[in-house]
Amino acid sequence: MTAQATAPVVDIRGLHKSFGQREVLKGVDLTIAPGEVVCVIGPSGSGKSTLLRCVNQLETASAGSVEVLGTEITDPDVDIDAVRSRVGMVFQGFNLFAHLTVLENCTVAQRKVLRRPKEEAERIALENLERVGLGDRGDAHPHQLSGGQQQRVAIARALAMDPQLMLFDEPTSALDPELVGDVLAVMRALAEGGMTMMVVTHEMAFARDVADRVVFIDGGVIVEEGAPADVIGNPQHPRTQLFLQRVLDPTHAHGTTTD
Ligand SMILES: Nc1ncnc2c1ncn2[C@@H]1O[C@H](COP(=O)(O)OP(=O)(O)OP(=O)(O)O)[C@@H](O)[C@H]1O
Ligand SMILES: [Mg+2]
Repeated sequence: MTAQATAPVVDIRGLHKSFGQREVLKGVDLTIAPGEVVCVIGPSGSGKSTLLRCVNQLETASAGSVEVLGTEITDPDVDIDAVRSRVGMVFQGFNLFAHLTVLENCTVAQRKVLRRPKEEAERIALENLERVGLGDRGDAHPHQLSGGQQQRVAIARALAMDPQLMLFDEPTSALDPELVGDVLAVMRALAEGGMTMMVVTHEMAFARDVADRVVFIDGGVIVEEGAPADVIGNPQHPRTQLFLQRVLDPTHAHGTTTD
């Protein structure tokens, strides 16, 4: 393979991020290869969302470098819109336009950013709605859909832009439990199709089954990373062990591990 083919999709080095006096990321190094699925886990407030947001410049690094698809996005002269047009992002909230139909929600950015003609944008939108199991709901408005369906529309909308990287920030955490499975199934299919994905999640079963690599972050640093079977199945660091105890068995973990 050429160097080009193996170049990382995301290459984060020495990333620091402070909000005022508060340092939230304290030197993070993380590389994601093409086709790799990396799940980021860790306690609330550990910096997971901040890390993800630094990958498309929704937050600006205080120090360090963040290279995405070969572009150094901390460079002040970067064309960040060009980078963002190749990166799909799915948040906890769906952020669909309430006054637009599902189909329109999935064509707006295609037409504005990629300048696709209406018919082509609609065809691609429909293909992606079918991919997430909603090919027959293009005429609906978001409020007529369940939370899980809305989140799948948000995924279809991102996929319609032909992203080379998908970022997910707890995409299922606002959903009723019975709606989570459909969204995770879509994400799993995406991963199996070879999409490069960085997923912040509390869904340990998903991380264990789908991730190529799990990254445990606590206090703004990567404490442990590796194959899911190792990090989730056999964590080495006491902080990882404590976190997993609490997440996997919340009723029986009462600070039995100390750091
Ligand atoms: N815009 C901001 N201004 C000030 N502080 C912020 C800002 N965004 C995040 N923080 C702080 O940074 C820390 C890390 O936040 P972050 O959202 O990255 O955590 P997280 O790991 O995603 O947590 P959760 O699991 O609850 O989503 C928190 O203490 C948070 O209060
Ligand atoms: Mg978060």
